[in-house]
Amino acid sequence: MTNFIKVCIFSLLTVGAFWGYSSFGIPQIKPAPPPVEAKVDLGSMTMEKFIALGAELFDGKGDCTLCHNEMGRAPMLEKAVADAEKTLKSPAYKGTAKTVEEYLYESSVSPSVYVVPGFGKKGTNDTVSPMPDATGSSVGLTKIELAAVIAYLQDLSGSEVTVQIPTMDASAEGAESAKSKECE
Ligand code: HEC
Repeated sequence: MTNFIKVCIFSLLTVGAFWGYSSFGIPQIKPAPPPVEAKVDLGSMTMEKFIALGAELFDGKGDCTLCHNEMGRAPMLEKAVADAEKTLKSPAYKGTAKTVEEYLYESSVSPSVYVVPGFGKKGTNDTVSPMPDATGSSVGLTKIELAAVIAYLQDLSGSEVTVQIPTMDASAEGAESAKSKECE
């Protein structure tokens, strides 16, 4: 009889050990998190989170670091604010931006308005930028995402962040896509 009890206890322990191992010993397979473009939650947005989102987009979806890196294909943007201040004062600048924030937007969506000398497309004498429109079809940042990237660039430069976190109403793009879903 004692043997029977021993066998029972042994079996329970063995089964328990396997259960414990399979529950806690083997890492759980978690599905990959959804890509960043998943809706930006503006409701709980703080400037700190907004800048962090911009940093993530700069490296990720925005593909900015593809060119803006140490390889010299494009100017580094750590001093983007100081550079922009200089450009805005330069007689060579013919764009419409009045503030650094406006200049950073303009440079991101219409890069050819002002081409940093030496960085133009080959053979265009610095009149055409090789940079794609950050909100165009190849990159496809939304307006909100671009605002986050600009906030990040201002922060990266150690400057005051003048970009405002967009409000819910301003997220017209989001509203539009929600509407078109409703109609389906
Ligand atoms: C295909 C390469 C490429 C990619 C990708 C790229 N850029 Fe650029 N960018 C350039 C080049 C080259 C310049 C310099 C020429 C010019 O003024 O357009 C530049 C200039 C800029 C400037 C102006 C800098 C100054 O001092 O005036 C800003 C701001 C900027 N890029 C932001 C971005 C952001 C934000 C992204 C990502 C959404 C991005 N770029 C992606 C190549 C690129």
